[in-house]
Amino acid sequence: MNLEQINKLIERDMNDVNQSIMSNLDSKVSLINNLGLHIINSGGKRIRPIIAILSARSVDYHGKLHITNAALIEFIHTATLLHDDVVDESSIRRGKVTANIEFGNSFSVLSGDYIYTKAFQMMASIGSIRIVSLISKAINIIIEGEVLQLINCKNLDISEKDYMNVIYKKTACLFEVAAQSAAIISNANVIQEKALKKYGMHIGMAFQLIDDILDYCSNNKKIGKNTGKDLKEGKITLPLLHAIRNSTPQEKKIIYKSVKEGNDIKLMQPILDIMNQYGSLDWTRIIAEHEINKAIDALNFLPKNQWSDALKLIANISINRKH
Ligand code: IPE
Ligand code: IPE
Ligand code: MG
Ligand code: MG
Repeated sequence: MNLEQINKLIERDMNDVNQSIMSNLDSKVSLINNLGLHIINSGGKRIRPIIAILSARSVDYHGKLHITNAALIEFIHTATLLHDDVVDESSIRRGKVTANIEFGNSFSVLSGDYIYTKAFQMMASIGSIRIVSLISKAINIIIEGEVLQLINCKNLDISEKDYMNVIYKKTACLFEVAAQSAAIISNANVIQEKALKKYGMHIGMAFQLIDDILDYCSNNKKIGKNTGKDLKEGKITLPLLHAIRNSTPQEKKIIYKSVKEGNDIKLMQPILDIMNQYGSLDWTRIIAEHEINKAIDALNFLPKNQWSDALKLIANISINRKH
């Protein structure tokens, strides 16, 4: 199976998801819709809703609730990004100027709130207490992840375990519930639900590890985001932790200085040189590959069909992505 085949397989469902997204951006306050459209129409990869759709189909779901479920998961992601770009002071996302730059921080935060709460209404419309409880808990966890990351800003003493905990919370958790909620609405059995949950969680971990690698690949124009931003902001990610763990006292000094004076972009090259020397990006990639392998292993507990094959391909694509 290739990507073209997956796109064909999910085309109708994804059209319905897009329609659901559009019809739920229906505020009478036009600025909210404009801002929502600004980000929703700017060409995100839609990986979470794709996973939610494929997950439901893989366990033989034939109803309509998987569309609302996938759309609301993308809403949560969108609201998170609106807030994240304010917190990170980012100026480019999806190759476009960010909402916080175009509309200002206040409007971005409030529109993020609007989209979050719209997601709650969509959740309620599914009519399952388990779904509401699972997804609302996930939103709490995402925000804890963002706050923990903020608390650990410029903290070079954080452990790899702490880092893994942050990326689970801020990113992997939403992938996890995208797949698990699909299992729940599909009335999948316990083993299938556990398998989808596990698949989502591991693909989400790999996804953020790759994001953290891409942040150090400034020559990649496809990313559509500011790169080098993690170092500038004092966000201590796994590639940097690996470099610190392996470097000489002299090199450690360079890294500590760069993190402390993060705003000076000149300090980026020496860090990249140190990372190159120790293979920090490659090493991070290997960790991401482990996660992807675990995600693929979990698929063994699902029925073997074109949908579960597609989930496997999505896992392989996520590890090789360039944006
Ligand atoms: C960006 O997510 C935020 C992370 C968790 C790394 P995506 O890379 O899925 O963003 P879009 O939706 O495709 O722009
Ligand atoms: C992902 O972290 C944040 C969220 C899950 C909201 P990043 O801050 O690294 O994401 P990007 O790089 O801005 O997309
Ligand atoms: Mg960010
Ligand atoms: Mg990032």
